[in-house]
Amino acid sequence: MFYAGIDLGTSSVKLLLMGADGTVEKIVTKEYPISFPHPGWSEQNPEDWYEKSIEGLKELLDGVDHAKLGGISFGGQMHGLVALDENDRVIRPAILWNDGRSTKECAYLNDEIGRDKISSYTANVAFAGFTAPKILWMKENEPENYGKIKKIMLPKDYLAYRLTGVHATDVSDASGMLLLDVKNRKWSAEMCELCGVEESWLPKLFESYECIGTLLPAVAETLGVSKDVKVAAGAGDNAAAAVATGTVGDNHCNLSLGTSGTIFLSQKHFRVDENNALHSFCDANGEYHLMGCMLSAASCNKWWMEDILQTKEFAKEQENIKNLGENHVFYLPYLMGERSPLNDPDARSVFAGMTMDTSRTDMTLAVLEGVTFALRDSLEVAKRLGLQVKSSRIVGGGAKSPLWRTIVANTFGIPLELLATEEGPSLGGAMLAAVACGEYGSVTEAAEKIVKVVGTVEPDPALSAKYEEQYGKFRRIYPAMKEVFPALH
Ligand code: XUL
Repeated sequence: MFYAGIDLGTSSVKLLLMGADGTVEKIVTKEYPISFPHPGWSEQNPEDWYEKSIEGLKELLDGVDHAKLGGISFGGQMHGLVALDENDRVIRPAILWNDGRSTKECAYLNDEIGRDKISSYTANVAFAGFTAPKILWMKENEPENYGKIKKIMLPKDYLAYRLTGVHATDVSDASGMLLLDVKNRKWSAEMCELCGVEESWLPKLFESYECIGTLLPAVAETLGVSKDVKVAAGAGDNAAAAVATGTVGDNHCNLSLGTSGTIFLSQKHFRVDENNALHSFCDANGEYHLMGCMLSAASCNKWWMEDILQTKEFAKEQENIKNLGENHVFYLPYLMGERSPLNDPDARSVFAGMTMDTSRTDMTLAVLEGVTFALRDSLEVAKRLGLQVKSSRIVGGGAKSPLWRTIVANTFGIPLELLATEEGPSLGGAMLAAVACGEYGSVTEAAEKIVKVVGTVEPDPALSAKYEEQYGKFRRIYPAMKEVFPALH
């Protein structure tokens, strides 16, 4: 049998066809637009997700025995708010994970209701990108739209709904709504009450590897497959990537350099960061994880390359970089404000330290280093919690750059394990579908059988020492700028 994994990302949907033994047979990517209606806001049209996914699925199955498609599942961009009316029609464009409009609502939840209370209900505090503060924003700013809400969904769940007709979500993605009692894997009645959410609006909760239903007959016909094809709940993209990289069990680490940048630490048992700088979420294998998420990671490099330098030759631009660990230019990667660990939607990007001899390559390197340093900020939080990170796996577009991997290994001072397959959420989605169809007994078993380490990037002690010093300098820039940022916009 074959299994399809759909990674519903921010810039594109990536569809992957996996054989029963975990072999990646085919990958198709379809892009869609994102709009930034105000600085710091970001939206997408859920119809684009559906159309491009159907287009992609057709292409994925082209030339394949359609009868052999056993199941479909997802890894999806997290936290986005999709609101549906009484006829299950989308009320307004989806408000995405990196949208910072709900600052006021977060302040209300964290400061007026209180961090301790919110954390005791959900294991997390309010961050602007999370779903619940966006609902409060809608209530305050778009009362007419708010009044029409009959269902709320996360991005991949909207896609699953269009494929199956079932309103469902999984516990890993639901964790990022700030409406889930993460510890007990159930909706929090208290949070729903606080955020003006009726429980009837909420999708039914599943574990990531559980089947939510089968394809709607019309969808099955469009795709030319059986209507018995199973659809599994799937996971938030980071939890799905963790499955694909075998980051399951106690305290294993995966780093992701995608549009967002994340440090993901699998945990066998529930635990909370008492400062809530790291998110405490359910995992796709029935357990838990801690995660730090920065809003702009590889997207900073994309912005610098494509929008500013006007080139798509990323590798060529990195070829001439030699001065690792000695850059006099520093970069704060806060193009969309920052989530972990700063929780500051007002933060903005900064280049600092330029002189007359600063070159284009110095600035390119500064972008790669700045993103890495900002991700290390979350590693420092994990260390303060007593978590030891001895090595990590790495995924995402940025992880394809050998130079960037070297910077990460040396800034973190840990070996990075390279995997036979570099795919993240799309492969994780396919693996979850395979588990839901009984191909593997558990997520852990699927990970053990499918994921293979093929190499390691070892840190070099001399370079790590240099990066330690550079990171120390980087850490001084944000606190010096923090008070200035709100005045800049
Ligand atoms: C995680 C997060 C991002 C998005 C990106 O909390 O917000 O990683 O899921 O797709």
